[in-house]
Amino acid sequence: MFPLILSTNEWISMDKWHNIFLIGFSGSGKSTVGSLLARTVRATFLDSDSLIEECFGKSISRIFSEEGENTFREAESDVISEVMTVANTRRVIALGGGAFQTRGNRQMIMDHDSLVIYLSCSVRELYRRLTNNTDRPLLQARLRPGESKRQALQRQIATLLNRRRKQYSLADITVSTTNRSPVEVSRFILNKIKELDAKSSR
Ligand code: S3P
Repeated sequence: MFPLILSTNEWISMDKWHNIFLIGFSGSGKSTVGSLLARTVRATFLDSDSLIEECFGKSISRIFSEEGENTFREAESDVISEVMTVANTRRVIALGGGAFQTRGNRQMIMDHDSLVIYLSCSVRELYRRLTNNTDRPLLQARLRPGESKRQALQRQIATLLNRRRKQYSLADITVSTTNRSPVEVSRFILNKIKELDAKSSR
């Protein structure tokens, strides 16, 4: 459980945004911050990876190895599309780290009243958070000659992150999670949303 440092009835105008999407690299804190944020603004929290796992009845790693990445990516797009069809619900949705890279997914997200928040994080900190993780198939880097496991993981994180930065930076709000706790990140996001609200109602 999270410490109840945030009040659970923070007011933000969800008239404008029915969906708050959290995007960013694995380990950036999307699920942790997302569920905290959802409780705070009294919205439903959804995690695209968990929905896909539920639907297939197996872990993301097994979906990758048994069905292939393409099947996973199709499921990811289906989840986004289905989430959008449920009207009149406030939602905070944590997306898998690669979901925002697909143009079709970005369009679906941006065409609907969605606010997109990028949780950024340094490679060094991502490495620290992901170093013992075994269930992220895209981070199982093959060792190059003379390379340590640590170097291979750092290289893999840096390569993927560089490839994805441009799309991540299309978000409406960017928040660094490198040196912030989930509560601090949520607080930062709420303040930013209030600023956006104030600007648009002027
Ligand atoms: C992926 C990130 C994972 C998961 C899948 C693919 C990616 O989600 O969707 O392993 O492409 O970066 P998290 O960002 O929650 O780890």
